Amino acid sequence: MSDNTMHESGPVSDNDEPASTGSPADELGTPPHAAEILGLRMPLGIGTMLWGDTPLDRRITDRILSDDLLRLIRERAHAAGVRFVDTAEGYGGGSCEARVRRAGFTSPDMLVATKFLPALWRWSARSVVRAARNSARRLGTPRIDLLYIHSPIHPRRPDAWIRGAARAVRAGLVRRVGVSNFNARQLEHAVQIARQEGIEIISNQIMFSPIVYGAASLRDTVRRCRELGVAPVGFGTVGQGLLGAGLTPERLRSIRLARIAKIGFDDLEPLRRTIAAIADRHRCAMGQVCIRWAIAKGVVPLVGIRSLGRLEDAVGATHVALSAAEIEEIDSHSLAHSTFDRPRRRRAVFVILISLLMLAYRVSRVVPISGH
Ligand SMILES: NC(=O)c1ccc[n+]([C@@H]2O[C@H](COP(=O)([O-])OP(=O)(O)OC[C@H]3O[C@@H](n4cnc5c(N)ncnc54)[C@H](OP(=O)(O)O)[C@@H]3O)[C@@H](O)[C@H]2O)c1
Repeated sequence: MSDNTMHESGPVSDNDEPASTGSPADELGTPPHAAEILGLRMPLGIGTMLWGDTPLDRRITDRILSDDLLRLIRERAHAAGVRFVDTAEGYGGGSCEARVRRAGFTSPDMLVATKFLPALWRWSARSVVRAARNSARRLGTPRIDLLYIHSPIHPRRPDAWIRGAARAVRAGLVRRVGVSNFNARQLEHAVQIARQEGIEIISNQIMFSPIVYGAASLRDTVRRCRELGVAPVGFGTVGQGLLGAGLTPERLRSIRLARIAKIGFDDLEPLRRTIAAIADRHRCAMGQVCIRWAIAKGVVPLVGIRSLGRLEDAVGATHVALSAAEIEEIDSHSLAHSTFDRPRRRRAVFVILISLLMLAYRVSRVVPISGH
């Protein structure tokens, strides 16, 4: 057992020292690590996608988190050195942004990222400025630290959104700009347009886990990020629970990623067995192995946090000391379910669904949902 490891139930460290990112110069190229580009000492971010508290969220999530719990999560995270939180106007119909504010995350020493959604009714650069203004209001800040363009998928090319983001920067509404779900080619184009506008694309937020790492398109994208000095930030690192302990075929069916990517229980077996063996060796949880693996790849993982236990796990993961051989072992069993390889038509369904969901949130505010 390494003394750098921590059990699932281990305490949150109150040590503010940077966790070593330890990223090897592997096939993805050499660092800078994403954490360095973002100015983070701890290479970890808190995901807030399931923090919504509207009547619609009461229908679509298993439980609504209390304000008290979110404040506790903020306090413990801050004490442990976590300085990055990720939200979006599309999460909980904007209510997640408001909850980030209410929990006290919007402070000068935190990096608070949010996202502009290229919804189907948006067609002009101006819509980015308007959306950023609304996000800033919900977050309770005059200036958004990092504004991502949530997706490249829209009948219009993303150029308009990047030009809009540049306007928002010039208006003092946004400090830095990122993109999300952009593949290598789309990222290169975005960086070029941004430079024409006099801004930088600082980060690309992508799905990053051993479930997708086997896809050449994903590894190309991360490599391109590094070459362009763009910080890769990863979501779905524990595969929405697919790579956590105690997965059963029933639980798998309730996980959205498994349904969307058509991942069966047996498909995951060799990878899960590998991660479980490494976790056993380090006496840590399987999810922690995945989080540490992502950090070793030069990526800052975002972990969806809905309890103090999950936060403790995520922070503890930054101290797990995986060897280069263990990282390679995980690489060699990784699957290739990258969204980048899905036909554009299927990726468009995602944006259509989120756009519809955003509309549903708006309607539910006007017409209260019965029974709530
Ligand atoms: N840019 C984008 O398009 C995009 C897309 C998706 C997500 N994101 C961002 O990334 C964040 C994380 O993404 P995600 O929620 O898809 O991924 P995730 O963190 O892999 O999934 C969260 C789920 O994983 C479980 N989990 C968390 N830590 C775990 C651990 N150590 N072991 C086992 N299971 C664990 C949680 O279960 P419990 O509920 O039981 O705790 C939760 O259901 C989001 O909150 C959001 O901020 C961005």
